[in-house]
Amino acid sequence: MTTDAQKTLRSGAVTSFSESFSESVRAEMDGAVAVVMIDNPPVNALSHHVRRGLLDAMARVADDDGVDAVVLICSGRTFIAGADIKEFDRAPAPPGIHRVLDAIESCPKPVVAAMHGTAYGGGLETAMCAHYRLAAAAARLGLPEVKLGILPGAGGTQRLPRLVGVAKALEMCVTGDPIDAADALACGLIDAVIEDNGEAGGGSEADAGSEADAGSEAGGGAISEASGKSENGGLRAAAVAFARRRAVEGGPHPRARDLDAKLAEARASPAVFDEFKARFAARTRGFLAPELIAASIANSVSMDFEAGSARERELLIELLGGPQSAAQRHFFFAQRRAAKIDDGPPATPTRPVSEAGVVGAGTMGGGIAMCFANAGIGVTLVERDQAALDRGLAVVRRNYERTAARGGITGADAEARMGLIRGSLDLADLAGADVVIEAVFEDMDLKRRVFAALDAVAAPGAVLATNTSGLDVNGLAAETSRPESVIGMHFFSPANVMELVEVVRGAATSPEAVATAMATARRIGKIAVPVGVCPGFVGNRMLARRQAEAERIVLEGATPARVDRVLYDFGFPMGPFAMQDLAGLDIGWKAETSTEMIRDLAAGRGIEPRPVSDQEVLERCLYSMVNEGAKILEEGVAARPGDIDVVGVKGYGWPLYTGGPMFWADAAGLGRIAESIRDYHSRLGGRHWELSPLLERLAAEGSTFAGLL
Ligand code: 3HC
Ligand code: NAI
Repeated sequence: MTTDAQKTLRSGAVTSFSESFSESVRAEMDGAVAVVMIDNPPVNALSHHVRRGLLDAMARVADDDGVDAVVLICSGRTFIAGADIKEFDRAPAPPGIHRVLDAIESCPKPVVAAMHGTAYGGGLETAMCAHYRLAAAAARLGLPEVKLGILPGAGGTQRLPRLVGVAKALEMCVTGDPIDAADALACGLIDAVIEDNGEAGGGSEADAGSEADAGSEAGGGAISEASGKSENGGLRAAAVAFARRRAVEGGPHPRARDLDAKLAEARASPAVFDEFKARFAARTRGFLAPELIAASIANSVSMDFEAGSARERELLIELLGGPQSAAQRHFFFAQRRAAKIDDGPPATPTRPVSEAGVVGAGTMGGGIAMCFANAGIGVTLVERDQAALDRGLAVVRRNYERTAARGGITGADAEARMGLIRGSLDLADLAGADVVIEAVFEDMDLKRRVFAALDAVAAPGAVLATNTSGLDVNGLAAETSRPESVIGMHFFSPANVMELVEVVRGAATSPEAVATAMATARRIGKIAVPVGVCPGFVGNRMLARRQAEAERIVLEGATPARVDRVLYDFGFPMGPFAMQDLAGLDIGWKAETSTEMIRDLAAGRGIEPRPVSDQEVLERCLYSMVNEGAKILEEGVAARPGDIDVVGVKGYGWPLYTGGPMFWADAAGLGRIAESIRDYHSRLGGRHWELSPLLERLAAEGSTFAGLL
């Protein structure tokens, strides 16, 4: 077969070239197959030089009679992970993505996309223009544009439903969550999965890998001879063999745009759109992009490909120019920026973490232990008595069993994770831990004693962290002989679900301990934000302001339900009183009785009830947080306004589509906010209404928090 194939291929003109088309795109021949390689670290985004290089490379291979087929592949850790988000704020340099994709799709030779890593957004849209798609077994494929407040605007909303059906396309585009290679194969997005060894792992194209090395003149082992990377060798060889076979079989080669069978299914059952909307209503509330994504996918059913694509582009432009996408793009970079410590020495070493310890198996301790076990890290969970330990471990087990019952993990996974959590009643069992997280009651004296005891048993250099909600980390460090190793790691409840961790740097905490805590948080799947010591750190300190204001507003005459409704309508998942109810304070038991109690309390404090407008409720709850955020920046408790935004959104449900409290304040206008704060201060008094000097200055200058960077 291989020989036949080679014979057939050799009947055309033989060509051999290795050529660079831009700083990030080159192509070389592998037999009669042109391998077009993209090398644009870190994530092979579709920057303008990638687009230019791809366009020129496609023109070159399309015209060369010696080229029978084309493989698109990337070097480094991933296939193209999307458009270059950094280019979104300026007019795109030519060529535009659509021109490049047209060149791929209309290529007269079969084009095979070979994906590994994260084939996301414009990357997956590029692959959908290829005639065939292969994915490494560990690859993840997705259209996460919705997370940036936009839609897949390079044909994604038109080609994906044709390949995988409307229901699957809606789910992928509206959630933005990736699918794995096996799922991609099952739903029709790809033609074959390639295992690490280059063997095809399933699908109708089980021959994909079997010819992996056949006829490979370039040896087939390396992605890029120049870069010396070979991690993709199996994928490349399989893709070249696959492409060669498709060339021998001859065309026409399938184009996603021409498929109709799965759209016909949607035409036959149009309820799919309403069912989907109802299912995802809570998750998408307030966001514009999901609505327009669903509309664009609906166009794929009701319009022809060209019309649907033209409308998709219009919708993309509309979303890109709108405030939600600006906010979500800000947040994308703020989240990544927050992970960086600007004031430490560059390349600070971190302590490798192979064993962890947690003290206290209550609500937080159990959840934190799960985070380590979920990441495959062994963890010793220490309690004060057997009954508390049994209780804590039983809760952890129940959580895993529930997840397994829902299909989130297998029963074997659940057992394996339980197996990584060892219960103990003896702090001395933490001697082997590289990081210990204390999660006992919020009682300073108790925590002091625990830290003194930890100092006596923990390994030299181990990071000793407290999960306190707001107590003085420096006071705990002072109980030890190694204050440089003491730090806060403030998880949020439920700790195994919530993504945020405030990493609280004490006065003596070493850069190594900070770097280790940040790296540990990231390793267990958390978003770590470095903050300084002060009561409540960043998140709880700002939230306390909102809570105080909400309570005061209620005394003035608004009901708790109305305050909650105003904040819910702004975009929080729940208002301040519902949140307290959830945390265990049941003030909402009976509307009339509690309103009466509130009136009595207000009268006792000499507060006259008066009508409070929704706008006043909103301003007082949000401006008080912004003012506190400005003070937090002034004091250096947070290094960047974006860090505060990450805490607000990830820890407290501040609506993502406004970008977080500080970004939202910039958009609302600092001048207007400062003026209102002055007004509330003169009417209501109270230290928290004293205008932050930083906010005052920025407002006077007509500047913004973002301008501080
Ligand atoms: N454009 C520009 N820069 C990007 C980028 C992108 N699409 N994706 C990631 N980066 C940058 C990050 O900002 C970061 O830069 P830094 O080192 O200077 O902070 C660096 O690449 C590494 O990113 P991560 O820290 O996030 O690396 P991870 O390994 O944790 O994750 C990833 C990699 C899964 C690819 C993740 O970065 C990601 O999800 N990126 C966004 C993917 C995305 O949204 N794609 C769609 C873009 S929109 C689009 O394609 C429009 C189209 O439809 C027309
Ligand atoms: P919890 O009451 O559920 O659990 C505390 C556990 O510590 C109990 O199981 C108790 O038996 C154990 N304990 C007490 N003394 C001990 C000792 N000497 N040695 C070993 N174990 C001991 O409390 P929760 O909610 O888990 O809070 C723990 C810490 O986390 C507190 O500092 C709290 O402020 C903080 N926190 C709590 C959040 C929440 O929402 N519950 C959120 C973020 C932080």
